[in-house]
Amino acid sequence: MCGIFGCICEAAVPVLVDGLRRLEYRGYDSVGFAFISEGRIIVMKDKGSIDDFVRRVDLDSLDSRIEVGIGHTRWATHGAPCKENAHPHLDCTGSIAIVHNGVLENFLELRAGLQARGHAFSSNTDSEVIAHLVEEGVRSGIGLKGALASASSQTRGSMAVAALSSAEPDRIVCFRRESPLILGIGPKGVYCASDIPALVKYATRFFLMPEGSLATLTRGGFTLESASGEQIDPCAVGVDWDLAAVDRGGYAHFMLKEIHEQPLAVSNTLRISAEYVARAASLLLGKRILLTGSGTSYHACLCASYLLNSLGFDARAIISSEFEEHLKGQPLGEAVVVGVSQSGETADTLGAIRHAKRLGARVLGITNTLSSSITSLSDAYLCTQGGPEIGVAATKSFLTQLVALEMLSFRAALASGSLSRADYEGVVSEMASLPAKISSILGRLDRLREIALKYADRRDAYFLGRGMNVATAMEGALKLKEISYIHAEGYPAGESKHGPISLVEPGFLCVFVAPKDSSRQRIIGNVMEMKARGAEIFSVLTEGDGELVEVSDEHFEVPESPEYLYPVLCTVPLQALAYYVATYRGLDPDRPRNLAKSVTVL
Ligand code: M6R
Repeated sequence: MCGIFGCICEAAVPVLVDGLRRLEYRGYDSVGFAFISEGRIIVMKDKGSIDDFVRRVDLDSLDSRIEVGIGHTRWATHGAPCKENAHPHLDCTGSIAIVHNGVLENFLELRAGLQARGHAFSSNTDSEVIAHLVEEGVRSGIGLKGALASASSQTRGSMAVAALSSAEPDRIVCFRRESPLILGIGPKGVYCASDIPALVKYATRFFLMPEGSLATLTRGGFTLESASGEQIDPCAVGVDWDLAAVDRGGYAHFMLKEIHEQPLAVSNTLRISAEYVARAASLLLGKRILLTGSGTSYHACLCASYLLNSLGFDARAIISSEFEEHLKGQPLGEAVVVGVSQSGETADTLGAIRHAKRLGARVLGITNTLSSSITSLSDAYLCTQGGPEIGVAATKSFLTQLVALEMLSFRAALASGSLSRADYEGVVSEMASLPAKISSILGRLDRLREIALKYADRRDAYFLGRGMNVATAMEGALKLKEISYIHAEGYPAGESKHGPISLVEPGFLCVFVAPKDSSRQRIIGNVMEMKARGAEIFSVLTEGDGELVEVSDEHFEVPESPEYLYPVLCTVPLQALAYYVATYRGLDPDRPRNLAKSVTVL
């Protein structure tokens, strides 16, 4: 949650605005900047997005000689999204400014202590205590770095911070615990940011800040040390994303761009080294498999659990936020936990993984971010090769997760002997056809635009599927609801008669994920039940399925495939449906209200 950007370079103001804009997917409730100008700190902040802010505030009036600045884009956790709660936060003297990403667990107690010592607060945030704690450290003569180290030792919880002090106007001091912070060096300056996309335009070398470390950025570079003051050698990470990968590239929205990038993303994921997949798969052998993730990533887990069970494994998918409760009292020494997350930073998923590790489970991480917290906690990991995903709605990350999980499952089945070498090779060659099949669907998106126009004014919708496609249906419903605000529920089709059907009246939209798989005959029964109550039926079906076309009001065809490829293929039209419905409703699919791309709070 929240994005931090800091830079020391010539003409820092436009760099800060641009860097922060690339982090808006992490939150966009409010925005703010702090600059050092003529030895003083200037803070500008307000409610709303960066574009709104830049339209309202005359940033051009700022001194073009400004070289040092920090900025923040917020997803509110403590305190309403308003100007007062926007970052940066200042100390009592106005000479220290901080931006913070994370959540402080003991801020109430710290705040009470600070107030008792005479500090005045101007926001309701947890973050403001950091500014006042740093103020006390600076006042005691230990300098900005010492003061931030001292503040970090008094706080509990996640904390990525960048701080400025007018007494040390040439530097930015950063601290990182649990929340991510990456440092970058480029030909024109030194930078820090919550995520790599913000740095790609400016930096040529990238360094992860280790857990619990402090960094001091100056014009000449940065130094890194532990909280106890020992120097740390920075660890460089390879980043091969170019600017085009983090820009919209001519598409109206990141979401649409990312939908169109799926053939490439999937083919890159299919190229993950066989050796890596085999190593990861070996972790599953003879173990009870618990797959965990949140939101879309949970749907990938659910889908994979069906596949793994059909291949002879004992697999269960558990929503990360329920993981600990769900498995209360169970020993996990014999389990392997597969933690799935696009960002690799989702607090619920990290919490589930940490819980499982405490109880002795081995961990396999599947993330789209090699440098993430989940990868660093894992005994083995696979990096889905989706490339940067900026749109808040997960699209290509879901498809690449499905593909990585399928590669893993089939490889484990080969190793366990439940799949013959010949069958395994058949699967590999079928999977290789995915990028072309996805492209063929993308070539027909105009049809979905028409269908979306018809459904754009609906209030409710059910998404129904069976088997692996229960997960597809749930993903379709999540996509629609999160970006179009239409109430949508994803359900196992067979379950609909146990309650949900009571809502169905003439015109109620039912989206069926009904490709020609082993449950196709039974799902036709479910279609008929809904139709009999007057529901409007939109089916995603296999090309040439005349019987289902006949009973559907609208349909969209996907290419004929083996059963395990249908979740990948059937998801694409559902993503596009949600995208077009949202845009017809005048909404920005990249920035759904109340959401953030990376949810780093529990
Ligand atoms: O980064 P993660 O995959 O761990 O994120 C999990 C969810 O927050 C995410 O999938 C969310 O549900 C998306 N907005 C769905 O489109």
